[in-house]
Amino acid sequence: MDSQLKNVGILAMDMYFPPTCIQQEALEVHDGASKGKYTIGLGQDCMAFCTELEDVISMSLTVVTSLLEKYGIDPKQIGRLEVGSETVIDKSKSIKTWLMDIFEECGNTEIEGVDSTNACYGGTAALLNCINWVESSSWDGRYGVVVCTDSAVYAEGPARPTGGAAAIAMLIGPNAPIALESKFRGTHMAHVYDFYKPNLASEYPVVDGKLSQTCYLMALDSCYKRFCTKFEKFEGNQFSISDAECFVFHSPYNKLVQKSFARLCFNDFLRNASSIGKDAREKLEPFSTLTGDESYQSRDLEKATQQVAKHLYDAKVQPSTLLPKQVGNMYTASLYAAFASALHAKHSTLDGKRIVMFSYGSGLASTMFSFRLREGQHPFSLSNIASVLNVSEKLEARHVFPPEKFVENTKVMEHLYGAKDFVTTKDRSLLSNGTFYLTKVDSMYRRFYAKNVVSGTTPCCENGSVLNGH
Ligand code: ACO
Repeated sequence: MDSQLKNVGILAMDMYFPPTCIQQEALEVHDGASKGKYTIGLGQDCMAFCTELEDVISMSLTVVTSLLEKYGIDPKQIGRLEVGSETVIDKSKSIKTWLMDIFEECGNTEIEGVDSTNACYGGTAALLNCINWVESSSWDGRYGVVVCTDSAVYAEGPARPTGGAAAIAMLIGPNAPIALESKFRGTHMAHVYDFYKPNLASEYPVVDGKLSQTCYLMALDSCYKRFCTKFEKFEGNQFSISDAECFVFHSPYNKLVQKSFARLCFNDFLRNASSIGKDAREKLEPFSTLTGDESYQSRDLEKATQQVAKHLYDAKVQPSTLLPKQVGNMYTASLYAAFASALHAKHSTLDGKRIVMFSYGSGLASTMFSFRLREGQHPFSLSNIASVLNVSEKLEARHVFPPEKFVENTKVMEHLYGAKDFVTTKDRSLLSNGTFYLTKVDSMYRRFYAKNVVSGTTPCCENGSVLNGH
């Protein structure tokens, strides 16, 4: 294999989120929260959730099948498949093994990779592993696939509106329109209890919300510093926010993304970077002597930096916020859904541009890295990826549930989590053609999935509609 492969990265992408969602405005009223707390305070519009028919496995089956079909990829061409997820369905059997059904049917069982787990960071671990594989001497010339899949659900309380659900699939290989700039990445890892899932009988995490916000911002600062140092070492000039077209963040909720970008501007100010003009410098000068800890607590600094960053936020961050605001926190898929939003909004203007990504998973693991984009050749082109993602149509096709129905569904899901010996509802009217769904869990906890074929439509593939022969 060529050891000097060029532009290894993302060749193609697809995304799936459940057709069921709730408006944050209605949830505010239902929860008795003050008006604007979820919509302005958290910055969220809508939240997707799974019903009993869907879970992280069905969403992965849906999105991987769709990725292969829409880009015309033969399942035999896949040599590595990695899944990032923090939604535990089985403590031993990886989600990847369920996905093997798609490949076994085509006679391909030679596929490396399993699952990566660390809160919202698992997808990034999977992506970096897969890219490393393509760049390594073990690469056999086939494509890699990375799947990020999660259902983010919280117990009743302040964290509940920060849920969401989705799966993203990405095809990895050389000569990609979205190439990783491997040399520049900055990582920060530490041991903290900000968000974790010690109770294996429940799907809900234990969350120290305030600590998780501070940990996120501290990790961001640390990754940005390291990213800049690497950039400066290899490029010989200072990095500043002017050097990237977009900044894409893991998005638990939009307000934290606004604060994060403002924090990068403050970092640029402290580093005396050229991106910060004279006016902004004057506004931030009073905060130049704050210690790190003081700077995370200072409301005045937060306000001043957000003011200074506003126009840059609108240009460099806002295009990536559509799906995270509409779908909610998708845990491992959140960062890549934000990236998909940027492609949706700006794909025709991204040729030759750099996009900086910040991945954060509680516990904690975080990395800042960057992609260099070019239009590419069909089907692996930015415009085709945007067209396959089909973001507007997918968002418009959703069904909005009233809050009472959402809460009712939450109770059903609590009951079914970790349960055995049940069949799911026969009502699949909300699922679109080609969506995989859970049919039953038998007395040995084995899960069975089928593909929804809407009558009057052509099945998307020849694989039959039932997996596992049941
Ligand atoms: N109108 C406008 N804004 C309002 C209103 C209102 N009526 N009411 C409150 N707000 C603002 C608050 O001032 C606050 O803004 P700030 O962040 O600038 O201070 C914001 O809305 C949230 O209000 P809080 O009272 O701070 O919210 P609360 O503490 O109840 O919950 C939290 C927020 C901690 C984010 C919670 O939803 C949570 O724990 N979520 C899960 C953890 C999480 O997502 N952490 C992020 C990183 S880790 C990860 O990705 C899972």
